[in-house]
Amino acid sequence: MSKPPRYFWIPLILSLILVPAGFWYVGWSKSGEGAGLYSRQWVPDAMFAYWNPTAFYKPVDTIVGKFEGEQCVACHTSVTPGIVKDWQASRHSHAEKKVYCSNCHGNDHQALHMPTPDICATCHATQHNQFEDEKRFGFPSHALAMERALDAKHFVDKPKAEVTACLHCHSVASKCDSCHTRHRFSAAEARRPEACITCHSGPPHPDDETYFHSKHGQLYLAQGAQWDWSKPLRKGNYPAPTCAYCHMQDGKHQVADKSIWKFGIQKINPLSSGNEIKRKQWIKLCSDCHEPEMAAKSLTALDQERKRAWDKLFQAESLLKGLRRKSLLYPSARQRPPYPGDAPDKLWPREAIGFLEGQSSAFYNVSPIERNYFEMWYFSNLGAYKGAAHGDASFVAKGHQAMELSLESIRKQAETLRTLGKTQPTNIWLNGEYTDYNREHN
Ligand code: HEC
Ligand code: HEC
Ligand code: HEC
Ligand code: HEC
Ligand code: HEC
Ligand code: HEC
Ligand code: HEC
Ligand code: HEC
Repeated sequence: MSKPPRYFWIPLILSLILVPAGFWYVGWSKSGEGAGLYSRQWVPDAMFAYWNPTAFYKPVDTIVGKFEGEQCVACHTSVTPGIVKDWQASRHSHAEKKVYCSNCHGNDHQALHMPTPDICATCHATQHNQFEDEKRFGFPSHALAMERALDAKHFVDKPKAEVTACLHCHSVASKCDSCHTRHRFSAAEARRPEACITCHSGPPHPDDETYFHSKHGQLYLAQGAQWDWSKPLRKGNYPAPTCAYCHMQDGKHQVADKSIWKFGIQKINPLSSGNEIKRKQWIKLCSDCHEPEMAAKSLTALDQERKRAWDKLFQAESLLKGLRRKSLLYPSARQRPPYPGDAPDKLWPREAIGFLEGQSSAFYNVSPIERNYFEMWYFSNLGAYKGAAHGDASFVAKGHQAMELSLESIRKQAETLRTLGKTQPTNIWLNGEYTDYNREHN
């Protein structure tokens, strides 16, 4: 037998070295004081203990002793009366075998924990399994939300006081009280749209705004007070849909299973075979109340709105890429501080344009014209998307109008940049607050 050739053993040896080195590097970078891929670059704020308890919660040591459920309730009636009242109003305190404070937090006061989903799983395996299983749909999803925030460069690189809210909302992954608030843990509350809008509102995801402007939201506002919220979210039980009716069909603890457009931040093919299956699921859902024909047409209208949006976004992208090719973006990536921990960015600084080149870097640390594109993409486009998805015509119109204005402004600025060449006046990003200030305060 002849010796294996060089092109066989060189890659083999290289991969034997590089693969373990890669694993070691990831392990090392996750072992810092923070959490996630960039954990060595930041330290947590105190409140992170509640939003990401697995990584950060440390019990108080002021109370010593192990207590039974009734003892917790007795003492906490004076320490935290509101919590005890909510618990007393919950199904947990009325169950045949009461679910006490200690069932969720533990008995030993110096070793208490903040209940993560796996604690609820000991009694609610169905919901927990559904929730965990959502991970297979990839981003965005509730189950992966914490990773998504921690591993975002615009979270890592900014002063923590400024990005605390990231974990507040993205904590939906690390505890089960986002939609049925502690300590009532009421299913009826979670069925209502208010349960979602603490997080699903604001410019990049105006679900709150668009739902309440839609016919469905208006029906909820007009009649919701009379509906019987103790009924599960199933066909026949509600005259108009709420967020959970549509996104957690039949009470299934998953929101990503029917997602076609994935938040609207990238162009996708809505007619792929996988997406055709999701479309059928949507039509089946709408058919609880509408003709399937009408539902199908409604979804086609969304596809058409998306196509128009991407026509505009790609025009802006290609203008930016043209400027980049001629090194006319100012300040250029070379002149701007790189994101910490971003080795490729340090070695090969390059302006990231569009989804595939990296969404995080577009959040700041960019030139004015790139910022303009970012606002067009992240705010106007996503607003128009949610308007079309939820049936709010005003948001569609506003979003497209704003995209037109941004595109026009990008055209004009591109013109100026081409004329001025490299002799640009401002340099705020070179000495701005996210450079030196940030290094000191992170
Ligand atoms: C003798 C009174 C007493 C008893 C009994 C008691 N607690 Fe507490 N608990 C307190 C006090 C006081 C605090 C606030 C401590 C602090 O902030 O330093 C507290 C705090 C807590 C906290 C909040 C911790 C945090 O970090 O936010 C939880 C959760 C808690 N108790 C759960 C329990 C559970 C579960 C039991 C029963 C196993 C229990 N407590 C029994 C007095 C008591
Ligand atoms: C069904 C599970 C469950 C039960 C039962 C329960 N808790 Fe909690 N508790 C939670 C969850 C979930 C959180 C939020 C955890 C987080 O923020 O990471 C929490 C948070 C807390 C906190 C800290 C946050 C705050 O709002 O101050 C205190 C204090 C607390 N619980 C006390 C109690 C007491 C006292 C009882 C009993 C009367 C009790 N809990 C019963 C699940 C439970
Ligand atoms: C020790 C077991 C146990 C644990 C732990 C537990 N639960 Fe429960 N839960 C129950 C029981 C029992 C009921 C009442 C079911 C019934 O009566 O059919 C219930 C009911 C509920 C309901 C339905 C309430 C309603 O309005 O219908 C929700 C929501 C809920 N739990 C959420 C949670 C969450 C979230 C956690 C974790 C923070 C949790 N539970 C932890 C046993 C538990
Ligand atoms: C505590 C905050 C919070 C609450 C409450 C919340 N969500 Fe979310 N939701 C998020 C975050 C964060 C994401 C994005 C996750 C990611 O980054 O991957 C998300 C993503 C989603 C998605 C997108 C899934 C996809 O694949 O595109 C849907 C749909 C959704 N949530 C529906 C709901 C509904 C319906 C409710 C109320 C019943 C709700 N959410 C309540 C924080 C929340
Ligand atoms: C008000 C609540 C809220 C805050 C604050 C928030 N997010 Fe989100 N985030 C969401 C929701 C909701 C979505 C999903 C939107 C959708 O699918 O329409 C989301 C989506 C995302 C996504 C895209 C998910 C994907 O998989 O593509 C990333 C990344 C993200 N958030 C990171 C962050 C970071 C980093 C911060 C802080 C700078 C932050 N978020 C602050 C609620 C929030
Ligand atoms: C995105 C919002 C949301 C989150 C997060 C969430 N739930 Fe729920 N939960 C709901 C809704 C909505 C219902 C009512 C479903 C229905 O009507 O059938 C519900 C109902 C329940 C019920 C009662 C089921 C029944 O048939 O009575 C339990 C138990 C429960 N959830 C447990 C959990 C657990 C455990 C977690 C964490 C893994 C969790 N929930 C996280 C929205 C949520
Ligand atoms: C009539 C059903 C319906 C109602 C009610 C509804 N949505 Fe939606 N939602 C949709 C549809 C359809 C889409 C587009 C899904 C797609 O094609 O990906 C969507 C998209 C979303 C997305 C982005 C997920 C994605 O796939 O891109 C989020 C997040 C979301 N909705 C949250 C909410 C919230 C929060 C509420 C309540 C305030 C709500 N929705 C009410 C039907 C509904
Ligand atoms: C639980 C019942 C229910 C579900 C589910 C539901 N709708 Fe509706 N929808 C209504 C009601 C009721 C109205 C107001 C009466 C009407 O216009 O038919 C309405 C109105 C509408 C309108 C406005 C119609 C007009 O003429 O202005 C559109 C568009 C719409 N729904 C689309 C959808 C889509 C798409 C879905 C699925 C993603 C859906 N609906 C799911 C009950 C529902």
